Amino acid sequence: MPRHLLTIGDLRADELLHLIELALEYKELRRRGVRVTGELSGRSVALIFEKPSTRTRASFSVAVYEMGGLPVTYSWSELQLARGEPVKDTARVLSRYHDAIAARVYRHSDLEEAARYSSVPVINLLSDREHPLQALADYVTILERFGTLSGVKLAFVGDGRNNVFTSLAVAGLKLGVEVRVASPPGYQPSIEELERAAGEVRGAVRVYEDPFEAVRGADVVYTDVFVSMGQESEREARLRAFVPRYRVTAELMGEAPAHAVFMHCLPAHRGEEVEEEVLEGPRSVVFEQAENRLHTSKAALRFLLIESS
Ligand code: CP
Ligand code: NVA
Repeated sequence: MPRHLLTIGDLRADELLHLIELALEYKELRRRGVRVTGELSGRSVALIFEKPSTRTRASFSVAVYEMGGLPVTYSWSELQLARGEPVKDTARVLSRYHDAIAARVYRHSDLEEAARYSSVPVINLLSDREHPLQALADYVTILERFGTLSGVKLAFVGDGRNNVFTSLAVAGLKLGVEVRVASPPGYQPSIEELERAAGEVRGAVRVYEDPFEAVRGADVVYTDVFVSMGQESEREARLRAFVPRYRVTAELMGEAPAHAVFMHCLPAHRGEEVEEEVLEGPRSVVFEQAENRLHTSKAALRFLLIESS
C-alpha cells in the first residue's frame, strides 16, 4: 500500500517534525550550492491542476527536478477528466507510468478516490478541505524564526473554515502550538472536528470573534484570502462578513507584540484581507514562507517516495 498525503493529519507529530528537519537539511544543502541530489533519478511525478497555482506548481516541479526526477504537469482541462473520464480510471492509468500523483482539486473527495485506486502515493496540492504542504512550509518558517514550535502562539485572522487554516490548525494541535482564530460567526471552525482530525492533541485551538483580542500576545499573525478558489459565487457575502473588521492592518499588527511576524500563504489581495504596508512591511515573512515551499516539497517527496516505500 502506498503512503498518501491528503491531509496534514495523515502525518504523526514525529513524522511532521522529521519532515520539517528534512526540509531544513535540503534548504541548507541548496544554500551551499548543492542543488541536484538525485534521489528521484529515473522517476517521474504527475502534477495535475484543476485550479490555478504559482507557488505550488513551481516549487513542486523544481523539487522533483532537483531530486533528479521528471515532473510532468497536466492541466485538468486538458485531460480526459474534463470529458468525464472517472478519477478512478485516471488514477489507475497514471500510476502505471508515474511514481507519484500530486493534484490540486476542487473536491477533496476526488483525492480520496484517486488514493483508493492509485498504486503510487497521492499528494494533496490543495483541495477545498486542506493545504498540507503549505502548513509544513509555514511551520518550517516559524521554527526558523522562533527556534521552537511548542508554545508558539499563532493568531489566524480570517476564514476559520478554509483549507489553509484547517491544515495549520491540525498541524499546530499535533506540534504543541496555540492556534487562535478570529472569524465572524458562520466562518468559525469546530474545535472538536479539528481535534478529531489531529488525533494527537498537544496544542490548543481558541476561537475569537474579535481580531484585536486574538492577536494580543501572539507571535504570528496569519491571514489568507477571504474568498478561496471555488467560492467566487459567495464573494459579496464573504466580503461583507470579513471586510473591514478582519483585514490585517497596521493598527491590528500594533496590537501584537513587537516581535510578532506577519504571515500569508499568498497570493494576497492587497486592501482586502491585508493592507499593503503590512504585507510589504519589515515584519512580513511571506516570501520566506514561499521559499520554504520548495524545501518542504522535497522533504515530502523523500518521505513518501523513498523512506515510506
Ligand atoms: N500558497 C499557494 O499554494 O500558492 P499557489 O496557489 O500560487 O500555488
Ligand atoms: N485558501 C486559498 C489558498 C490559496 C493558496 C484558496 O483555496 O484559494
